[in-house]
Amino acid sequence: MRILIIGSGGREHALAWKISQSPLVDEVWSAPGSVAMDKIGPCFDVKPDDIDGLEKLTLQLEPDLVVVGPEAPLAKGLADLLRARGFDVFGPSADAARLEASKGFAKDKMRRYGVPTARYGRFTDVAEAKAFLDTLSAPFVLKADGLAAGKGVVIAETRSEADAEVEEMLSGKFGEASGELVIEEFMEGEEASIFVLTDGSNIVTLPAAQDHKRVGEGDTGPNTGGMGSYAPAPVMTPAVMKTVEETITRPMLGGMKADGTPYQGVLYIGVMITPDGPKVVEFNCRFGDPECQVLMMQMDEDIVPILLASATGGMSQRDFERLLPVPDRPTPCVNVVLATKGYPGSYEKGSVINGLKDASALDNVMIFHAGTDVNDAGDIVAVGGRVLNVTATGETLEAAVARAYEAVDLIDWPEGIHRRDIGWRALQQSR
Ligand code: AMP
Ligand code: GLY
Repeated sequence: MRILIIGSGGREHALAWKISQSPLVDEVWSAPGSVAMDKIGPCFDVKPDDIDGLEKLTLQLEPDLVVVGPEAPLAKGLADLLRARGFDVFGPSADAARLEASKGFAKDKMRRYGVPTARYGRFTDVAEAKAFLDTLSAPFVLKADGLAAGKGVVIAETRSEADAEVEEMLSGKFGEASGELVIEEFMEGEEASIFVLTDGSNIVTLPAAQDHKRVGEGDTGPNTGGMGSYAPAPVMTPAVMKTVEETITRPMLGGMKADGTPYQGVLYIGVMITPDGPKVVEFNCRFGDPECQVLMMQMDEDIVPILLASATGGMSQRDFERLLPVPDRPTPCVNVVLATKGYPGSYEKGSVINGLKDASALDNVMIFHAGTDVNDAGDIVAVGGRVLNVTATGETLEAAVARAYEAVDLIDWPEGIHRRDIGWRALQQSR
């Protein structure tokens, strides 16, 4: 088989790495890919939001399967376009991807299907938004309706902050994405990410992961795309996983199918484990980054049959039994993100990274590249905010964490930053 992967980040490097190990696969192509993905197979310089360009490239390459990494091309209808051309695609239609692309749409669907989530309202008018704030107590959760590169959620600690934010968002702080607002009740609890592979009817749930969204240790400071992750997450016991499947996954997927917009691909369910049980924080229409890196590394079996089954229908849980979330079974895996100093704010590009060879040579370590390039002298240089994903497995989560930091410490990159406490919640729980 020949597989085309869309995207260029650490998530897509991990997908390409895992897919390339399949005995079913002869060729892995990427668009646009990266210097690291280029070592796995040819890369084509077409950006993920260039839908016409991707359609042309697919027609030219004729892959047996297209795996879409990021949300933007899905929201723009890439999967619909390619399916209409007769290609098999892992990823939802634009209508189904609205679960991520419009937070208001997702909330309305949850209400319609009776899926537990925070009480909410949708607003385009400042006065109406403020009247709804009157019914809530601090902290206030304000969300831009549309895709805002992970920045569209603001948790306002005070009412005056919330009022100011409502005005800013509705007057275009996030452009078109905040033309409409979702305001919701604040939920207390621990968060986890659930990844469900589905063909629209059948599901396979992967081990639950947790990521560290804040830039600073102890989960402090500004939000980022994710500074590290691990799986399995001990907070997601088999009983909680069962509740998620019964109260969230099944009703959502069943409802989407009944409404004529079946969801195919991977559904990322961000849940909050509240005192009243798991509730949905958000849906994404793609794998999490950096959660995907962990899931790919801890998965023993071939992922290609299940990606294909999701794309073409006829997936069966029995066929993929070993992927199921039995908490003792998945190998603990952890991922530490190395970012450029300044991230998530502004940062410089071009600093040289040494020591990658030694770090990757350690047993049970994989380094996925999220933002690197090669300079004229042949050095690996940083060209992004999040740059490297040092990923390690171990007999226990503790061993995996120790191994990951052993690798991190072999990397010589003075301009890089990382957190030293990835996995702290789970480690605390296991002690
Ligand atoms: P989202 O992009 O919707 O996942 O929101 C980003 C982050 O904001 C989440 O990962 C949560 O930590 C937080 N968040 C979002 N909605 C809520 C909520 N209703 N209650 C508490 N925290 C929330
Ligand atoms: N790691 C969070 C995300 O991918 O949205």
